[in-house]
Amino acid sequence: MQIPRINIIGSGKLGRTLIRLFADHQLVEIGDVFNRSPVHSLAAIEFCSGGQLCESIDNMNAADIWLIATPDDAIAEIAEALIETFSKTPLSWTDTVVFHASGLHSSTLLEALKNKGAAIASAHPVHSFANPEQSIISYRGTTCTLEGDPLATEQLSHLFTEIGSTIIPIQASGKALYHAATVLGSNYLAALQQSALDMLEQAGIAAPDAKQILQPLMAQSLQNLQNLGPVEALTGPIARGDIQTLTAHLDAITDQDSQHLSLYKELGKVALQLARQQAHLDDARLAAMARLFSTTP
Ligand SMILES: NC(=O)c1ccc[n+]([C@@H]2O[C@H](COP(=O)([O-])OP(=O)(O)OC[C@H]3O[C@@H](n4cnc5c(N)ncnc54)[C@H](OP(=O)(O)O)[C@@H]3O)[C@@H](O)[C@H]2O)c1
Repeated sequence: MQIPRINIIGSGKLGRTLIRLFADHQLVEIGDVFNRSPVHSLAAIEFCSGGQLCESIDNMNAADIWLIATPDDAIAEIAEALIETFSKTPLSWTDTVVFHASGLHSSTLLEALKNKGAAIASAHPVHSFANPEQSIISYRGTTCTLEGDPLATEQLSHLFTEIGSTIIPIQASGKALYHAATVLGSNYLAALQQSALDMLEQAGIAAPDAKQILQPLMAQSLQNLQNLGPVEALTGPIARGDIQTLTAHLDAITDQDSQHLSLYKELGKVALQLARQQAHLDDARLAAMARLFSTTP
């Protein structure tokens, strides 16, 4: 069977990693590579040991699969530019797969290409592509959510499964909430750690000591979450129903910072739901804690 030719528009961190992985597994032949800066295209061509530099979208040749891996905001305009380019040629979009890798957007961003006959999809690998050299080593085991037209999802399922992804189908209508959840679960960990570091500093602990306190604690909590899930992993004053401890925390934070106070209370409400599911505490204690977290200072 002839392997498909793939063109890439936007060969940045994610784009060059995926193309390299697909090519290393002999799943694709790398075709044309286009970025606004040829330097970026050449860097990807070198990284992948394959592909041809295209200095303009107008010069791109036909391919079986197109990956648009630019920043999200550019995807729709690139779809329009591709239609414009190929409207001047006898080439057809029928049986061609076009996909992007945005976590937020669904394949509907490529609707204009679908109207011309292409099979469209969005495939979002849940991986941080900070360093392509590292990502090609660590990619295996990455979950990839996928939605779109059957022809596209079938071909992409094959490619992503072969490079080590588990595929999870997703509804187009759920992508914004899905993406917000992934931000909450990953990027907001950084925000959470920063808030805790600030509070430790306000408590008079030097920055290096604060890091030493928090890093192993957070790492161990993540390990517990992985092993036990959120209900069983929750320990601490909310799980024990220690109302006096929580009252002292809220008083101490109120003296310092209203942003940390609202964060502590809002996350406390979620932790309280976990404590309720643990079913160790009586209703009166749970209700007293709920009142603590609902009060305005
Ligand atoms: N990075 C991640 O961890 C990650 C994870 C999952 C999904 N994603 C998704 O992957 C996609 C790419 O993200 P990324 O992090 O790889 O971005 P990136 O590293 O910033 O790379 C974007 C590439 O697109 C090119 N580009 C920008 N605007 C363009 C345009 N108008 N026409 C042609 N090329 C253009 C850039 O080169 P020029 O400036 O030279 O044009 C650059 O090479 C996004 O949809 C993102 O949501 C990323």
